[in-house]
Amino acid sequence: MSTATQSTTDKSAQKVLITGASRGIGATYAKRFAKRGYQLVLVARSEEKLTQVAADIREETGVNVEIMPADLTLAADIARVAEKLNKDTQIEILVNNAGIAQRGNFTQQTPELISELIQLNVNALTQLAAAVAPRFVAQGKGSIINIGSVVGLAPEFGATLYGASKAYVQFLSQSLHQELSPSGVYVQAVLPAATRTDIWAYSGIDVNTLPEVMEVEELVDAALVGFDRKETVTIPPLHAPECWDELQAVRMALLGGLKQDEPAERYTTSR
Ligand SMILES: NC(=O)c1ccc[n+]([C@@H]2O[C@H](COP(=O)([O-])OP(=O)(O)OC[C@H]3O[C@@H](n4cnc5c(N)ncnc54)[C@H](OP(=O)(O)O)[C@@H]3O)[C@@H](O)[C@H]2O)c1
Repeated sequence: MSTATQSTTDKSAQKVLITGASRGIGATYAKRFAKRGYQLVLVARSEEKLTQVAADIREETGVNVEIMPADLTLAADIARVAEKLNKDTQIEILVNNAGIAQRGNFTQQTPELISELIQLNVNALTQLAAAVAPRFVAQGKGSIINIGSVVGLAPEFGATLYGASKAYVQFLSQSLHQELSPSGVYVQAVLPAATRTDIWAYSGIDVNTLPEVMEVEELVDAALVGFDRKETVTIPPLHAPECWDELQAVRMALLGGLKQDEPAERYTTSR
């Protein structure tokens, strides 16, 4: 993946907007960016938890922290956060982190859960990226961090709906990278594996029953190493980066093997 270029510019006037910042991975990103001197805009549903996270960060670092309670499954709340991203020119980084997992397998999903998951993991993330991208392009700078998952690489894991939403996040990020990087805008997809947060309890799984779990601070610190290196896809738990590089090489070879003017021989019918 590429070489480190850690920025040393003054961050005190710059803001990071983080969704899902009331706990877990989002709250950890908030603490880390505050330590780097950024001001913060924290988004989640629970005003009480946001208030507590904000107070702790202000006390520890002295940075300005705004909170924006919002339910990102609701169109009106997505629009409110989108407007903030579009209008507040101090926001230079969007961390699209809010997400939910699924309980049970695909045949057990209710229409309501399907809609909620797609609305949060796919629609809100996309709308917020779309709200900020034109401004970032016009300014010739800005970063969008999208939190995907290794589950998006693995239909075999049995989390069909959640995995499909995370495969979308990865595709969107890689494609946005192609589209926005020539304008100076950086897009990163972060693909965690099992990380110790409340998402597991909310999905009905005891995290302590999992064979291997990363601590949330380790996950975010590793993801920020990838951020500083301007990686397009950062997979903290992947110990063999050559596997990812080979996967991309095979994908490019596959694209080179497409011939659009005629079907492949194995699909031709003998008349
Ligand atoms: N933990 C893992 O093992 C793991 C692995 C791979 C990927 N991820 C991804 O990492 C991201 C963060 O997950 P996490 O593990 O930190 O989960 P978490 O501890 O459950 O935190 C989720 C955050 O999203 C917020 N949120 C949930 N529903 C929301 C809604 N409708 N509107 C606005 N905010 C909402 C929650 O706050 P409120 O409840 O206050 O709204 C909370 O701040 C997710 O995208 C997840 O898919 C996690």
